[in-house]
Order: sequence, then C-alpha cells, then structure tokens
Amino acid sequence: MVRPCLLGGALTAAALLGRHGVALGGPPETTPASDAGGASHGALAMDRQEAMLAGWLGASPTAGVPPGVAPSFWRWLLPPDNQPGEARIALGRKLYFDPRLSRDGTVACATCHDTSRGFTDRRSTSEGIRDQVGKRNAPTTLNAVFFSSQFWDGRAASLEDQATLPIVNPIEMGQPDGNAAAAAISGDAEYRKAFQSAYGRPVNYQDIGRAIASFERTLVFVDAPFDRFAGGDASAISDEARAGWALFNGKARCTACHQLSASSPVGTDGRFHNVGVSARHQDFEKLARRAVEVLTKDSSKEELDRLALETDVSELGRFVVTRNPSDIGAFKTSQVRNVGITAPYMHDGSMATLWDVVDHYNKGGEANPYLDGGIEPLNLSESEVNELVAFLFTLTDDRFADSNKAEMERQRQLAAQRRPFRDDDEASRKVLPFERRATGQR
Ligand code: HEC
Ligand code: HEC
Repeated sequence: MVRPCLLGGALTAAALLGRHGVALGGPPETTPASDAGGASHGALAMDRQEAMLAGWLGASPTAGVPPGVAPSFWRWLLPPDNQPGEARIALGRKLYFDPRLSRDGTVACATCHDTSRGFTDRRSTSEGIRDQVGKRNAPTTLNAVFFSSQFWDGRAASLEDQATLPIVNPIEMGQPDGNAAAAAISGDAEYRKAFQSAYGRPVNYQDIGRAIASFERTLVFVDAPFDRFAGGDASAISDEARAGWALFNGKARCTACHQLSASSPVGTDGRFHNVGVSARHQDFEKLARRAVEVLTKDSSKEELDRLALETDVSELGRFVVTRNPSDIGAFKTSQVRNVGITAPYMHDGSMATLWDVVDHYNKGGEANPYLDGGIEPLNLSESEVNELVAFLFTLTDDRFADSNKAEMERQRQLAAQRRPFRDDDEASRKVLPFERRATGQR
C-alpha cells in the first residue's frame, strides 16, 4: 500500500520504496581529512568511494525507474538517443571514478564530486589538474538528473552534454580534445569491450559522455525525513523543522523559486535569478561589455565553459549564455535536496553554513540593479532563522543521515562564532539597501 503523500503522484512512495528497496547503512560514512584516503585534492580513494556507493546503490544498479519516482515522469526525463541499460550504467560508473580520463591521470569526476563529501569537493571553488583553481563551486551530482539544464548558468542542455565538458576544460581534467580523452582509455581492453557492449562502437568521446550520464541517472537520492513528513508522519521531523517548513512556504517565500512538489521533486524552478550573491564585488556593466566582446569572436560551448570557470566574467552567470541584460548575475536556482551535506553554498561557494544562506535572504540579498524582484528583506527573527535551517537539514536522504547530523553540528558551531551575512537592521528594514553604501558605511 502506498501512503498518501503531500507531494502527490510523482513522489508517491518516495519514502516507502526508497527506504526498503535500497540497502541502507552500507559502509560507514566518513568525512576524510584532507590527506586521508589517497586520491588527489583531498578526495577519498576511488576504491573506497566505489565501495561506499555500492553500499547505497547496490553493486550494480539497474536501469529501472528509481524508487520514489513516478514511471511516467521518469520516462520523460530519459533522452531518446541514450536509453539507460545496465552495460551503459556500469561503463559510466567506471568512467566516473577513473582519473585516467584527465590529462595527467590525477583527476576524475569523483575528485570534485566525491561520494564521501556529498558528491561535491567541500571547497569554495574547485581545483583541477596541476592544482588550478576555478571560479565556481562544484554542485552535487546527486539528483542532477532532475534539472532541465546543467551548470550554474544552464549552459549545458543535458547530462550527456555536461559530462563531456570537464574532460576537455583546461583547468579541470585538461584533455586537449575529445579524441585525446578517448585515446587515454582506449588502450584498456576492458574499456574497448565495455564500449562495444554498451553502444556497439569503439571508444569515443560522445559515448563517454553518454555512459557517464546514464550512470548519473542512478544517483537519485530523494528519500529524506521530509518525505516521511510529507507522507503524513508529522513526527518524522522536529517541531522546529515543521515551523521551518511553514516559513519556507510562507513568510520566507523560499517556495517562490524552490518549490518542492510532485513536478519539482528537488526544489528548483529550473530558472535563473539574481539573488545578489556576488553583487558586492562586481562592476557588472564593465564585465558584460567584456563578455560580449569575447563572445562575438567565439561562442562555442568550450569557450563558454572556459569563460565560466576561468575568468571574472563567471560572475555574470546566465548572461554569458543568453546575452540578455536581465540575466546579469543570475544563476540557476539550486536544488535543496541533500543541502545539509553539500556546504559551502552558492555558485561561488561564498557561504559556509545554511545559517549564512538564510541570513543572506533575510536581509534581502545584496542590493544591485539586477536583483530579482522576489528578493526582499524578510524580517525573520533569530528563532525563525533557526527553524528554517532545521527544516533544510530534513531534506537529506536517509542514506546520509550520519553525515547530515555531524554536518549540522559542525555548522551550528561555526555559526555560533561567525555570522558574516547577518544584518538585523537590513532584515527588519531599519536600514534600507544602498543606504549604508550611499552614506559611506560600507
Ligand atoms: C575540477 C573539479 C571538477 C571535475 C573534475 C568535474 N567537475 Fe563537475 N562541476 C565542477 C564545477 C566547478 C561545476 C560547476 C561549474 C559551472 O556551473 O560553471 C560542476 C558542475 C557539474 C554538473 C552540473 C550540476 C548542476 O547542478 O548543474 C554536473 C552534472 C557535473 N559537474 C558532473 C561532472 C562529471 C560527470 C564529471 C566528470 C566527467 C565532472 N563533473 C568533473 C567541478 C568539477
Ligand atoms: C528569487 C528566487 C529565489 C528565492 C526566493 C530563494 N532562492 Fe535560494 N537560490 C536561488 C538561486 C538562483 C540560487 C543560486 C544563487 C547563486 O549561487 O548565485 C539559490 C541558492 C540557494 C541555496 C544554495 C544551495 C547550494 O547548494 O549552494 C540554498 C540553501 C537556498 N537557495 C535556500 C533558499 C531559502 C531557504 C530561501 C528562502 C529564505 C530561498 N533559497 C529563496 C533562488 C531563490
């Protein structure tokens, strides 16, 4: 029997099937110290990451509809030219953890989207081959299947498209081109066999992207205490978190962009908004002029990728893709699923805790001419801020329950010492945005 679920059809049984269909527990979760584990850039060793994943997904996840997702919705998410199959998923899974795909053999997808770190790298912005640091924060690969576009600025239309780009990005995995990427692994007879059985062709760059995308579609983690609450079990989350859910949908207006519903299971509208994250540091007009100059010469997807990851133009966000001035400083609305274990936050990783995130919204973001009209001071009290944060921590899948708890404690302690985005005067409109700047106080 399927319990009634607030989220309706698509998510019906999210809790039920997810909870019982997948091996919970698995290997113990760890938060490795930066030198633990053996992979580069502080990532956990690849074999340990793979073992961890097997604990959550089973040794060979099938191509079926993931627990908790309505079959019709799922079918709609699958591209006709890359239907999932077990051979494709297994191949993609191997590639995801393989540093040989990078130019110097040191960086895999799993270096920056590490299973032991919420499928991110726990850095403000990512580090690729030869320790080169990029301009953007690595979002989680968990649930990326649900996005209608990929990357903070949506410059990739599909997971397939997305997966090929880091391989040839100079500061991520650094292969000079797609052929070099294919050559890097085609010496391995196992790969040659696997590509034949998955796609009926020799190793090639496009199929590397397709296989990895097929694997990423198995990373569906939408089975959280919140889902049991939504399914009717009021005691699944604390009183504080229940109050936070009411604020999320009411006074704090988060739902305007982060709807959680049957058709929006991970809490994003899939659209792009300027919520004033980096406004403070930018001269948007000057950057925009520079971007247009560069893009007139070359607007290939590789060039967009380079601009986003290596240059200050990065901060223009969606504008670089559309060149529409209303997209200046706009980024894709993040999912809120598993957000408890994916700090730091925002496209530039500038916020260390969920308290920082809520403080930021509470004061109405950072004023700038392109700020989304939906962002205004919220006048949340300190206990309301805590309630919203408590709610956000209920969105973490049960398979990460231990990490989530540890992370909440860690963030609570950090926030007790540092609340750099808190501004009670702006939150309550005692001071208006711009006022401090105009009067030279900032
Ligand atoms: C050097 C670190 C690094 C490596 C290696 C890397 N990524 Fe990423 N990944 C990032 C960063 C940073 C972003 C955000 C970039 C942006 O939005 O401009 C990102 C974005 C993504 C996204 C988009 C998610 C979203 O929320 O829009 C997916 C999916 C993804 N990466 C998968 C992969 C796969 C698959 C690989 C291996 C082929 C890979 N990444 C390799 C750092 C990395
Ligand atoms: C106008 C649309 C909008 C509203 C309203 C909004 N958000 Fe966001 N949210 C976004 C966008 C866009 C981003 C990414 C911004 C960026 O990185 O520059 C984001 C990012 C986040 C993140 C960071 C996730 C990550 O993985 O880095 C969290 C958490 C979040 N929002 C929670 C909330 C909460 C809580 C509220 C209500 C207080 C809220 N949002 C209101 C659009 C919105």
